[in-house]
Amino acid sequence: MHNSVRIADGLTYLGGNDRRIALFESAYPVPRGVSYNSYLLTDEKTVLFDTVDLSVSDLFFENLAYALDGRGLDYVVVHHMEPDHSATFARLLEKYPSVTVVTNQKVAQMLKNYFGFAGNVHLVKEGDSLSVGRRTLTFVFAPMVHWPEVMFTYVPEDGILFSADAFGTFGALPGSIFADEVDFERDFLDDARRYYFNIVGKYGVQVQNVLKKAAGLDIRLVCPLHGPVWRRDFAWYLKKYLTWSAYEPEEKCVAVFYASVYGHTQNAAEIVASAVAAEGVKVRTYDVSVTHVSELVAEAFRCSHAVFASTTYNNGIFVNMENFLGDLKAHAFQNRKYAVVENGSWAPQAGGLIEGALAPCKNLQLLGEKVTVLSAVNAESAEKLVALGKLIAQDVKAN
Ligand code: FEO
Repeated sequence: MHNSVRIADGLTYLGGNDRRIALFESAYPVPRGVSYNSYLLTDEKTVLFDTVDLSVSDLFFENLAYALDGRGLDYVVVHHMEPDHSATFARLLEKYPSVTVVTNQKVAQMLKNYFGFAGNVHLVKEGDSLSVGRRTLTFVFAPMVHWPEVMFTYVPEDGILFSADAFGTFGALPGSIFADEVDFERDFLDDARRYYFNIVGKYGVQVQNVLKKAAGLDIRLVCPLHGPVWRRDFAWYLKKYLTWSAYEPEEKCVAVFYASVYGHTQNAAEIVASAVAAEGVKVRTYDVSVTHVSELVAEAFRCSHAVFASTTYNNGIFVNMENFLGDLKAHAFQNRKYAVVENGSWAPQAGGLIEGALAPCKNLQLLGEKVTVLSAVNAESAEKLVALGKLIAQDVKAN
């Protein structure tokens, strides 16, 4: 049965939630599920903005038919071709064969590649407008947020921004679809940060470019493809995006990441963490073999300082730490200070390899000397670990 929500005059939410999905994009755990958002604007013309993932397609088509209330579908605007939004496109064409696809050249090529589609397309370029009655659609290109074909639509008459993946988040919608009807900071912010850094974090420059374009618009309603719709206090969320996309830390704090096989490297990492906390600086500690790497990446970007502690394994960095460092590099980790702890029972060398793994990252500063633990922490290495924790804390407080 349909379950659509009226958002504003002539605008209806048609999306749905998947709470059974284990891994978004086959990579990211989503224990709170995810929503796939789609919207219908009814003016002199009817305009659908994107479709949805296959998992919620039956509900979507019921919602669409109900919201159209017997009218035909004139336009479908395709902002982004990733299949979590476009997989139902072929079925949409079967149901609404006379619909005109409004999109850009890159999307049109992908429609051909995915579906063999070469039908009725109204191609738009950056800044083009299309009148649909009282309202006008204007198109803002947003390449690499998150794929190269991505664009936004802005409706100046009502200040509506259809923002594709931008401003989206993991987490199913609880019933309320508006950000001001949920406790976003408590219930969504961690997921929003994890979504941002893992999905589009690599493309901070491109995000900044599109935020500059959006800065000139009177935005009163933001409709993303995932997560809540923003109609109040959007400036708060926009500020997060400005911080994240500039690769600036969200908080002056320390994240301690360790890879430990029998607990001795954990012990070393926790001695550092305790020394940081003793100086009154906020610190959180993570076992990289337990916490999912998408959470580790988001946390590394949230904090101003990081500690990487790893045992030496197969003459290298312990595998889960190596994987994490690779993910940080892939997501353009930069502008942070970090410290290193290594352990090894006969040939400790993880520390130097950690520094090497992070060497391609821009503007990282190593704090202090790496601390080497031989098998287990002893009085000498404990003293060095405490000193390292104090040094990090003092640097956090000084900056
Ligand atoms: Fe939600 Fe890039 O797709």
